[in-house]
Amino acid sequence: MKILAIDTSCDETSVAVVENDCVLSNVLSSQIQSHKEWGGVVPSLARRKHEELIDLVIEFALKRSKINLEDVDVFAVTRGPGLAIALEVGIKKIKEFAKKFNKPVVAVNHMEGHVYSTLAKNAKGNPKIDYQFPLLAVLVSGGHSEFVLMRDHGNYEIIGETLDDSLGEAYDKVGRMLDMGYPAGPVLERIAESGDENKYELPIPMRYSKDANMSYSGLKTAAMKLINDELKISDSGLRIADYKKATEKVSSKDAKQIVSDISASFQKAAVTQVLLKTKYALENILNEYGIKDILIGGGVAQNKYLRKEFRKAFGKQYRIHYPNSKRLYTDNAGMIGVAAYYNALRKNFVKDLDSIDRDPVWRIDQIS
Ligand code: KG4
Ligand code: ZN
Repeated sequence: MKILAIDTSCDETSVAVVENDCVLSNVLSSQIQSHKEWGGVVPSLARRKHEELIDLVIEFALKRSKINLEDVDVFAVTRGPGLAIALEVGIKKIKEFAKKFNKPVVAVNHMEGHVYSTLAKNAKGNPKIDYQFPLLAVLVSGGHSEFVLMRDHGNYEIIGETLDDSLGEAYDKVGRMLDMGYPAGPVLERIAESGDENKYELPIPMRYSKDANMSYSGLKTAAMKLINDELKISDSGLRIADYKKATEKVSSKDAKQIVSDISASFQKAAVTQVLLKTKYALENILNEYGIKDILIGGGVAQNKYLRKEFRKAFGKQYRIHYPNSKRLYTDNAGMIGVAAYYNALRKNFVKDLDSIDRDPVWRIDQIS
């Protein structure tokens, strides 16, 4: 089954061609450079960029896969969650194609895409992935952090989630305070490598709550106060301009070490929360499910510290699966195409094309 998939949920314009669960091409045009100067994603700018880029990205994806548009069996598009006005761009395009070629459409949940990013194969059908249901999916992206019980294809229950910021957002916000640009997550990880993670003790919110929920706003505030105290940026509160000054100071050896130590200490607290809550979920919520597999998807799943800690904590007892290529971690249409394939096997097609509408807050457990 040949599927053309589009994801325009946030700041990547992405189009993929997949054949069953194998990704033949997965092209994306990142808008990060355009949003960088605003320190985050600007929805109206995202929409305009998607509109400008979409046709070209479709052309590239088809060319790379050596598949013609007429040979596509199913069209797939992200319906949500995401930025409403950005999602609309992909949906409009897919509607046009489906009508023109009279082919079915799968409207995919973006978080279901992140789940399937860990099960996607390359064009040669590799790697072979051994997994069994029920399983636990840990989704750590810029938009979401959640624990999902996956009973079968298309059958999800959210058993825990963040009550405020996502893990990626926490990295981005703390990194932004340290003037690490946008998105700051990967930069903060690199700087943390030369820091002492035990130098500062930062709080792990909800550490003792008897559930698998998480929270990052308290940690973020504590990190903000620590930055202020240690770098002595300002007595009157925090301003972005102050952080700029801080990074100028970073050229001095001491300040550089402080930034590394704060980064490492923040990272330890942030990742420990995910580990503790994964443990809680496995031991207290899923203890009777006989879980063997953990899927970890989303942008932050690339983080080497998180991966090492997951391996240490769960590697002996569980099989841990990550996406098999860099492109499958952050937002991409390849994962949407693979999710669409499993939906198509169940004939989960959109019944009335004109009724597909974006759903910016569509939860994975609301998929029917
Ligand atoms: O999955 P994704 O593209 O976004 C959403 O679907 O929301 O993930 C992007 C997020 C950003 O917050 C980025 O800072 C974070 O993933 N990220 C990382 C790393 N690489 C990406 N965070 C920490 N360490 C990394 N290596
Ligand atoms: Zn995403």
